[in-house]
Order: sequence, then structure tokens, then C-alpha cells
Amino acid sequence: MADKTAKLTLDDGRTVNLPVVVGTENEHAIDIRSLRADTGYVTLDTGFMNTGATKSAITYIDGEAGILRYRGIPIEELAEKSTFVETAYLLIHGQLPTATQLTDFSKQLTYHSMVHEDMHHFYAGFPSSSHPMAVLAAMVSSMSAYYPDCLDRNAPMELHITRILSKVRTIAAFAYKKSIGQPIMYPRNALTYCANFLHMMYAVPAEPYEPDPLVVKALNQLLILHADHEQNCSTSTVRLVGSSGANVYAAVAAGILALWGPLHGGANQEVVEMLEDISTSGGDVKKFVSDIKDKKGNRRLMGFGHRVYKNYDPRAKVLKKMADQLFDHLGVSDPLLDVARELEEAALKDEYFVGRKLYPNVDFYSGIIYKAIGIPTPMFTVMFALGRLPGWIAHWKEMVEDPSTKIGRPRQIYSGENQRPYVDINDRT
Ligand code: ACO
Repeated sequence: MADKTAKLTLDDGRTVNLPVVVGTENEHAIDIRSLRADTGYVTLDTGFMNTGATKSAITYIDGEAGILRYRGIPIEELAEKSTFVETAYLLIHGQLPTATQLTDFSKQLTYHSMVHEDMHHFYAGFPSSSHPMAVLAAMVSSMSAYYPDCLDRNAPMELHITRILSKVRTIAAFAYKKSIGQPIMYPRNALTYCANFLHMMYAVPAEPYEPDPLVVKALNQLLILHADHEQNCSTSTVRLVGSSGANVYAAVAAGILALWGPLHGGANQEVVEMLEDISTSGGDVKKFVSDIKDKKGNRRLMGFGHRVYKNYDPRAKVLKKMADQLFDHLGVSDPLLDVARELEEAALKDEYFVGRKLYPNVDFYSGIIYKAIGIPTPMFTVMFALGRLPGWIAHWKEMVEDPSTKIGRPRQIYSGENQRPYVDINDRT
């Protein structure tokens, strides 16, 4: 860390020197932790647009340059050469696994893939119209009841990490099977992580199911690309909840709920719904874009724009290539893909989007790919959650292992009434 300071002059003429923290990629931050004690001032940063909540060694993003790296390794290389399980190990443990470590990790994930039989009853209690994100969050939170040693903050965390990574995949596939009234399919130990998920989603007892290798590759890529994105809304939620000492299942369940919102993980579902809307109402892309620009109906171009990327989201580039490859391979022709391409072309040429640096984000293509491989729309955000798990776990672990962690507790600027007396109910006007 460099030995630098920043000087702040207050309106009353006082001056304070604040330490400057420099990250390994030369990112500079002013450390304001002593500001309140020294001056009585706090900082105000609604939406945490410019606030570093922690130091973290997991993921590096340069949104202006379109760079995303996990533990230093570019996302493009991981998407091309790695698997989701290997990338999960990298994120959680900090290094790529050796061959032996990878085999052990994969075996552990296989051995812990079953969901406690008693938990199967929970599915019956949910209405058939339940959104799978509601089911997923409830089931993950319930896992803490089945593995109560997670409540002991000094107990080893490794087994819980393996359990949550492995079982969320099973819980997600079971939720889908229940929602369509089919019998659940138990995992098959001979299959890899992603192939096993596809088996649990699409196999039926009457027929064997062999996952297509390119579909398995596409699923690996999708999950890798979603695996972490530093201090986003859901990850910050996991850290905030975990900072109180809550167990990993509770912290991850909170992350799942934060991800559910349409401005975060719900966007991939909204992208497909938007494309369907355009398609069914005649496919007039120009009119749609112009309505968005005029802020008609307060709509946004879903799958465009990002708080961090002010350039093409590097994940969207990888997925665009995969979408082309997969559609060719599967021989699928989806009018939504044509609408998406037209929309992207129109927006990238339009001053409204260019001027605001609004480029396609990861969700612009992920929904179309999920649709092509048979994942139903309400499951899209569940797929995002499955992918984001290693990131949430890695951040939770990093935070728990850091002795300097404090419970998260932001300040505020109070903007309400000044002190006033209680008025009796008969005297109120
Ligand atoms: N379509 C149209 N206009 C947009 C869009 C969009 N998708 N995104 C931002 N804008 C406009 C805003 O209206 C605003 O315009 P103004 O200056 O005229 O008021 C300007 O761009 C800045 O927008 P903000 O909301 O301040 O940008 P912010 O960084 O807070 O928002 C966000 C980022 C939430 C992702 C936003 O771009 C958005 O809503 N996108 C659509 C939803 C989406 O795709 N979310 C997925 C994000 S990726 C992920 O979570 C994995």
C-alpha cells in the first residue's frame, strides 16, 4: 500500500489529512474511516455509487476498459478453457486447483448432491404458481435447520460450502420438476456438475437422457460468466448479512432474494419478455427504441446498461459468440434472436444509448441461450443464482476469515422533522 494522503478542507476552514489506499491494480481510495471521529462529518453516497465497502482479492473489474478477472485470470480465458466447478474452486480458494484437488472437489460435490428426504415435503407446501426464486430462497434458508452445526461460528466451513454448492443445483432442478408436475429425478454420480443439472431437469424415468456436450459447454460458460462480479447488490447483501455472524445458508438466502429484483438478476427474464413483446406486437424495433428514449411508460431497454461497465460488458461478448454457435448446432431459429440482434444494432448506433454509455450486459444474451436449451423463463434468475453461488461463498469466506471485519452499519443524513411534542389524538387536525 502506498504512503499517500488526501487533504480535505471543510467549510469551517478545518483541514484533515486522510490516508489514500492503493489497490494492486493501482485503484486509489480515500480512507474516510477516521473522518467522523476527527470532524463529526460523515460521507453521503446514495446507492454506494462511489464507496468501497471492503478490500477484496477475489474479482477485478475495470468497467471503462471492459475488463473482468477472477483471481487475476481474464473471464474470456476461463469461459473458453475452464469448467464451472474449477472456476468455483478458483474463486473460493484463490488458486486454480491441481488435478488431485479438482478430483477431490468434484467428488465432494457429487457426494453431497442429495437433498435431505424430509425437505422434499416442503415442495408440496408451495402453491404450484410459486416463483422458483421464492422456493429457492426458502429451501436454502431451511438448510441451516438441517445442518445446525453451521450456527457454530468456529466450526469448519468446508463441508457447508460443499453442501450449499452441490445441493442448490438439486433444489433448483427439483423445484422445476415439481412446477411441471413431473417426478423428481435424483442426481447421477457419473455425470459432471452441469451435465447432472441438465439430467435432473430434463430426464424422465421412462427414458434415458444424455446431455448434449455443446449444451453442457454453454451451461458451463453461462455459470462461469455469472460466478462473481465483486460488490454487486446481492454480493453486498451476502456480506452485510454475514457480517452480523449469520450462517452461510442465511447469508446466501439473503443474496438470492436480493438477486431476484428486475434491476439485478431478474433482468434476463425481463429481456426475453421484452423481446417477446416486441415480436408479438409486430417486431417494430425502431418504435420500441424511440419509446424507450422518450421514457414512455418509464420502460428501460432491459439487458442494456450497467452500473460498472461503461463499455461493452465482456461477458456479453462471450455469450453473443456462444449464442451463434449454439443456435447453429441445435438448428434452432428463434425470432427473438433476430429481434435481439436488430435491437442491439439500433441501440449501438443511437446517440441516447451511446451518450449514456449503455451497452449490452450479460443478461442481454443469457436469456436467449437459456431459452434455446429449454430452461423456462421463470427459472432464468434461478440459473443466475446457481452461477453466482461461488462468488457469494467466496465473499462470505473472505469476510469471515478477515480479522478486521466489522458488522456492516452505514450512516445516514436525517432529513425528517426536528423535535416536536406528541399531540393527543383529539387535538390532531
Ligand atoms: N434503457 C434506457 N435508459 C437507460 C437504461 C436502459 N437500460 N439504463 C440506464 N438508462 C438511462 C437512465 O434513464 C438515465 O437517463 P437520464 O440521465 O436521462 O435520467 C441514465 O441512463 C443513467 O441511468 P441510471 O439508472 O442512473 O444508471 P445506473 O448505473 O444507476 O443503472 C442499471 C444501472 C440499473 C443496470 C440500468 O442501466 C438498468 O436499469 N438497466 C436495465 C436493467 C438491466 O439490464 N439490469 C441488469 C444489470 S446486469 C446484472 O445485474 C447482472
